[in-house]
Amino acid sequence: MEEPPPEYPRIPGHEVIGIVEELGTGSTKWKIGQRVGIGWHGGHNHVTGLTMDGGYAEYMVAFEDGLTSIPNEVSSKDAAPLMCAGETTFSALRNSKARPGDLVAISGIGELGHLAVQYAKKAGFQTVAISRGGDKEKLVRELGAHYYIDSEKEDPAQALKVLGGAKVILATAPNAKVISSLINGLGTDGELIIVAGSGEPLELSAMDFLKGPNTVRGTFTGQSKEIEAAVRFSVLTDVRPMIEVFPLERASEAYDKMMSAKTRFRAVLSISE
Ligand SMILES: NC(=O)c1ccc[n+]([C@@H]2O[C@H](COP(=O)([O-])OP(=O)(O)OC[C@H]3O[C@@H](n4cnc5c(N)ncnc54)[C@H](OP(=O)(O)O)[C@@H]3O)[C@@H](O)[C@H]2O)c1
Repeated sequence: MEEPPPEYPRIPGHEVIGIVEELGTGSTKWKIGQRVGIGWHGGHNHVTGLTMDGGYAEYMVAFEDGLTSIPNEVSSKDAAPLMCAGETTFSALRNSKARPGDLVAISGIGELGHLAVQYAKKAGFQTVAISRGGDKEKLVRELGAHYYIDSEKEDPAQALKVLGGAKVILATAPNAKVISSLINGLGTDGELIIVAGSGEPLELSAMDFLKGPNTVRGTFTGQSKEIEAAVRFSVLTDVRPMIEVFPLERASEAYDKMMSAKTRFRAVLSISE
């Protein structure tokens, strides 16, 4: 039997922005010198995003279909987190049942959540931020949240019911218990959209679905067309990530800080720093 390809050596790093330096044979989509970005998927065969990510380096190889053009209005450092964190939350809300004026809640204010709050506000939703403790209240209100729910003080589902019930709840906090409990905060014909990557089983009864009736579904990060739409919307409405920039040499420190949830919010590696 053929040996599986070795996982190491491996260059990690997704959400990459760079300049096209060289074109492969037959490649016609891009010109040398264009600024482009790449998200989690590296192209339609899903190869580069997972096993050839390649962002922790000065050069990387990418499939032409996996790239998105980056407009001048956004810096490379600000554009990078839009490639996955931005696109995932933007598309989740854009493809949801929510329409302007509807109540939309974001559970978990981290790298994805702080962008989701901005997208929700800019899309014209009554925006609710749900976070543990009061630390992030001032910040999310500045980012556009109309309401703040401290999940350590009150049950978010009950608090959402008091507000009339959410049309959409976007779950970014990776905790199955937290995700399951949110369904009770939906209003009529509501939708619980899971982007959080939790492997634990959800605790949901058939009645939880029947009551609204409600929909529970997941959504996965998109490809270049969706990324392009997310970048365009971010430019049009001035949505930007909050970032902490580290030089490439400090990648390990950036990674540790990110894993201990101490960055506010996305850790960005810069080759030119
Ligand atoms: N679906 C996709 O395509 C996709 C794409 C990118 C990322 N993801 C996944 O989305 C999730 C969020 O990513 P992120 O980068 O935003 O992570 P993050 O920056 O760590 O933010 C997650 C937030 O969730 C809350 N949280 C974390 N652990 C929790 C717990 N045990 N119980 C309750 N709340 C908790 C915290 O918010 P508060 O402090 O405000 O409570 C935290 O800031 C991850 O699981 C990631 O893998 C999915």
